[in-house]
Amino acid sequence: MGNVYVFDHPLIQHKLTFIRDKHTGTKEFRELVDEVSALMAYEITRDMPLREVEVETPVAKAKCKVLEGKKLGLVPILRAGLGMVDGILKLIPAAKVGHLGLYRDPETLEPVQYYSKMPSDIGERELIVIDPMLATGGSASAGIRILKEMGAKQIKLMCLIAAPEGVHRVQKDHPDVDIYVAAIDEKLDEKSYIIPGLGDAGDRLFGTK
Ligand code: URA
Repeated sequence: MGNVYVFDHPLIQHKLTFIRDKHTGTKEFRELVDEVSALMAYEITRDMPLREVEVETPVAKAKCKVLEGKKLGLVPILRAGLGMVDGILKLIPAAKVGHLGLYRDPETLEPVQYYSKMPSDIGERELIVIDPMLATGGSASAGIRILKEMGAKQIKLMCLIAAPEGVHRVQKDHPDVDIYVAAIDEKLDEKSYIIPGLGDAGDRLFGTK
């Protein structure tokens, strides 16, 4: 079963509090999500492989480390996932970005793909799927399945807030995928909103309602 990592860094938790606050306006909400995403990217890349290089400092030769250059891909699930991309790219500017659009069929309630554009070599990349609100887990699970069908082999899931239901769904459907979140909340309400959550992440990011 995949691991679940909850990032309890004080800066992440502090900023998340203001992201949750309904009085936080669109501009500040977007900036805070951007900052938290960068902080989460710092944590999520902890296991990135390094290789040794030699450089000359002004006074001596030094054996130092640089990133081995593992290929990364970010895959935001549209639309709310877009809000986390720039923050992550600040720390990992070489990552390629694929986009995955899913909507929920009003009759079957199943997620249906309406858009996808991926880097051509997703099978060689470690992919970070970005779904800020892991509610029922339906979209994230479908998104991961679609990426696996396209050839993806290594996938991590990054969310801002998860409900226990979403975590269990992804763990059940994709035991090979680790989940990274800033918080796991209490539950879902009858409309599948996360409680206490932050409301509709897409609406709050883009000022729609
Ligand atoms: N999507 C959101 O944007 N918010 C929720 O609480 C659940 C799903």
